[in-house]
Amino acid sequence: MECTAARIGDLPHNPRMGVTLETVDGRVAMRGAGDAPGSGVSIDLGAIDVRALGGHPLVRAVGKGPGPVIDATAGLGGDAWILAASGRSVVAIERHPHIHALLDDALARARATPTLAHVAARITLLHADARRALTDAAQGAWSILVDPMFPPKAKSALAPRDIRLVKEAVGEDPDAADLLVAALATAAPRIIVKRPHEAPPLGSVPHHVIESRLVRYDIYDRPHLMPKP
Ligand SMILES: C[S@@+](CC[C@H](N)C(=O)[O-])C[C@H]1O[C@@H](n2cnc3c(N)ncnc32)[C@H](O)[C@@H]1O
Repeated sequence: MECTAARIGDLPHNPRMGVTLETVDGRVAMRGAGDAPGSGVSIDLGAIDVRALGGHPLVRAVGKGPGPVIDATAGLGGDAWILAASGRSVVAIERHPHIHALLDDALARARATPTLAHVAARITLLHADARRALTDAAQGAWSILVDPMFPPKAKSALAPRDIRLVKEAVGEDPDAADLLVAALATAAPRIIVKRPHEAPPLGSVPHHVIESRLVRYDIYDRPHLMPKP
């Protein structure tokens, strides 16, 4: 399946289209400009390790407040899946048409798999630019996760192929700071930004930080918006 540009809303954002969608073994898959036809990568949500999630840094960063979690940068759905497997309702927002199509297909397959269906049922996927969609999507939400593409490193180990493909499709999310501003403009009591250890905060100094082996979670709490006990 070849995809052409899709309508993604009226905010300026130009998805790169060097990547191609295709069907591999009945799954929607994505391959890079130089990759052979049939070698595309699809998402396998069932392969994500969801054991011992209580101590998972992302689950701890999101916390236990009531209401759904908005994953404003759904990508390949790994974070949304972990949060849903931990019991949260998740609204996942992705603006790139190809990446949205990959995740939509993976969620449909998960909904049709008895061992995964209960987790998939907790995720609602939207194809939108979260800078605009948050106004409605975040109503009644407890928290918003913002995980834009990481800034390029001077030196980096070769990333796994799926991450390289997302980079090829998306680029660098240069408007990530605007997304944080949009998240902070909602009434969600907690905003979480996932950052590489070496990167500065995307906005002001966060109120709390949770460090994991690979990333840092910058947490912005708004106590005046927290539900009264
Ligand atoms: C680093 S990836 C997210 C990875 C994701 N957390 C996961 O677990 O797979 C960033 C994704 O956010 C998407 N994105 C960036 N800004 C966005 C926005 N304003 N609205 C919706 N999606 C956005 C990009 O298209 C990209 O797919």
